[in-house]
Amino acid sequence: MKIVVIGTGTVGSAVQKMFVEQGHEVVTVGRTSGDFQADMTDIASLKALFSRIGRFDVLANAAGDVFPGPFEQMTDEQWENSIKSKGMGQINLVRAALPHISDRGSFTLISGVLTDEFLHGGTVSTTVNYMVEGFVKAAAVELPRGIRINCVSPTVLTESTAYYDFFPGFTPVDAREVALAYYRAAATPMNGRILKLYKTDC
Ligand SMILES: NC(=O)c1ccc[n+]([C@@H]2O[C@H](COP(=O)([O-])OP(=O)(O)OC[C@H]3O[C@@H](n4cnc5c(N)ncnc54)[C@H](OP(=O)(O)O)[C@@H]3O)[C@@H](O)[C@H]2O)c1
Repeated sequence: MKIVVIGTGTVGSAVQKMFVEQGHEVVTVGRTSGDFQADMTDIASLKALFSRIGRFDVLANAAGDVFPGPFEQMTDEQWENSIKSKGMGQINLVRAALPHISDRGSFTLISGVLTDEFLHGGTVSTTVNYMVEGFVKAAAVELPRGIRINCVSPTVLTESTAYYDFFPGFTPVDAREVALAYYRAAATPMNGRILKLYKTDC
């Protein structure tokens, strides 16, 4: 299969490695990195990207920023840019890629543990995660041509030590385990699922 991996960072590089290990052709996309460059906050940039890439089978997204902060100090720009990048950015990826993905192709988006854990400074992340997960569940019943869509929701990654202070007492998950979830979402018939890489009862 031809796989498009968006994001070349901690999650994206592990996802790329996983699909290559499984014998698939992978093209990578970043804002400034990767085989192709595009800005997911700009729908025209995304439409141009998929015209250049052509037909593909799987889109695995591991990009999208949020700009968190203490609730009372959050600026209009932090809210707008978070929704524009990790929220609308992922939705627009699907919209722009849809004419180019194969029949029975697969999309996988990303949310995160803050869907279920509510932390000081985390309100914007929680809000955007719900936007993404809501989109995935609803789009799963509307996408044409047998195309599927799922979402991977990791807790903090073992490799992302810079985030540890924000997630005190959380058990991290290895990037390879997150990458396996992307592979499972693409390689099995699941649709409309949120793959949570954390326990919700402890
Ligand atoms: N790391 C964690 O612990 C963790 C846990 C749960 C969820 N997540 C989520 O997973 C996603 C990826 O996290 P990460 O830690 O892998 O991030 P990262 O290492 O900072 O990498 C982010 C990647 O996304 C690309 N990107 C960012 N904004 C973009 C844009 N506007 N258009 C196109 N590409 C863009 C970057 O491209 P360039 O490098 O070319 O700029 C980079 O390759 C994020 O949505 C994050 O919220 C991460």
